[in-house]
Amino acid sequence: MERYVIKGGNPLAGEVEIAGAKNAALAILAAAIMTDETVLIENMPDVRDTNVLLEAIQEIGAIVERVDKSRVKINGSTITNVSVDYEFIKKIRASYYLLGALLGKYKHAEVPLPGGCNIGSRPIDQHLKGFRALGASVEIRHGAIVTQAEKLRGSHIFLDMVSVGATINIMMAASLASGRTIIENAAREPHVVDVANFLNSMGANIKGAGTDVIRIKGVEKLHKAEYSIIPDQIEAGTFMFAAAATRGDVLVKNVIPKHLEATTAKLEEIGCEVKEFDDSVRVIAAGNLRRTHVKTLPYPGYPTDMQPQIAATLATATGTSIVTESIFENRFKYADELSRMGANIKVEGNTAIIDGVGRLTGARVSASDLRAGAALVIAGLAAEGITIVDDIVYIQRGYEDFEVKLRGLGAEIEKVSSEKEIQKFRLRVS
Ligand code: EPZ
Repeated sequence: MERYVIKGGNPLAGEVEIAGAKNAALAILAAAIMTDETVLIENMPDVRDTNVLLEAIQEIGAIVERVDKSRVKINGSTITNVSVDYEFIKKIRASYYLLGALLGKYKHAEVPLPGGCNIGSRPIDQHLKGFRALGASVEIRHGAIVTQAEKLRGSHIFLDMVSVGATINIMMAASLASGRTIIENAAREPHVVDVANFLNSMGANIKGAGTDVIRIKGVEKLHKAEYSIIPDQIEAGTFMFAAAATRGDVLVKNVIPKHLEATTAKLEEIGCEVKEFDDSVRVIAAGNLRRTHVKTLPYPGYPTDMQPQIAATLATATGTSIVTESIFENRFKYADELSRMGANIKVEGNTAIIDGVGRLTGARVSASDLRAGAALVIAGLAAEGITIVDDIVYIQRGYEDFEVKLRGLGAEIEKVSSEKEIQKFRLRVS
């Protein structure tokens, strides 16, 4: 099993290039099969989740041609099967985007029900509510969602809560329904807008993405397109907090600063200097950091996917901080691991109370999910001594070349898979 070994204490410095947004890419790869013509997708992140989804798309019969690390061609004309294999949904929940894509195109889709994951139960009732509203039948049969329709008809859909996945899945199916669909209480995340822009580049007629009311006028069919995915604002924010936690000076390149506003605001509030340029941001964290209160909210609020990262940074800020998680019910599993590094963090319900300490010390810790893993790496980079992060497969799901990019900023970090390699690292850095 691979793990990261880190020697902390180096302030990160230099430049890092951000890859395409994983959470936009997963939906866009699924939507690409909705035409029988060839789609070229660029700026796709080379991460485990996108690679697994491409396997799932190939497995149902589509032609997938990897042009290079970040470009892929997809042609859905050869799809013979609308049933996605359990092994894929087990590996990545976002395989459920194939529901909206296949239902829209073939009026039939079968995808295993995604289980919960490490941050909460994550039901998909709103997705299914949307499909039913469009006229599809939806049944759970032998652990799989089976949805089909003679015809999909536009509908006026009110989401019971803001859901990125439901907004995107319904938007995909509605693109090829007949008539007009309105999605109320829609998610406004940048990657929802990216998926809408991609579908429109294939000939869909979607307006209002990025607001809480999305209007879709169904079209007969979709056509070929070439599309470049937006930069990943969560990867960008992770590096911004790594700069803050190590008191460094990092230029994060290939970003859309507007997508980072909530993160930038919090970094400035805790005492960092953030300089914004056209497609990059520079984070300078010279002295002590200050405490803050932060509550995760749907976009444009503070992102839940950046919650563990700010908590790891606040662990060595001066004063008592409060982090409230309002999106997922179980997203503080990393807290016990941070405590093993000397953090003073107490979780009560959906709130973490963090009393800043002078210094963290390296320890052996384990990643429970993607962003928690990234937060433990941030803590390890800031800590005194050696940290070993186990279960990094979670981190590799969403961060392209994470340790390579961190080494480029002066971090002492290596990916290892044996105790012997850990000993070698210890000798080298001691
Ligand atoms: C997407 O998950 C992201 N994943 C998550 O990122 C992100 O944390 C989340 O949006 C919120 O921004 C992908 O895009 C692949 P939701 P999603 O539907 O769509 C509840 C990461 O680290 N809900 O917006 O599953 C749900 O339980 C991942 O990259 C229902 O109750 O999130 C949650 O409490 C983690 N019923 C809330 O809504 C539904 O039908 C928001 O979930 C759907 C959601």
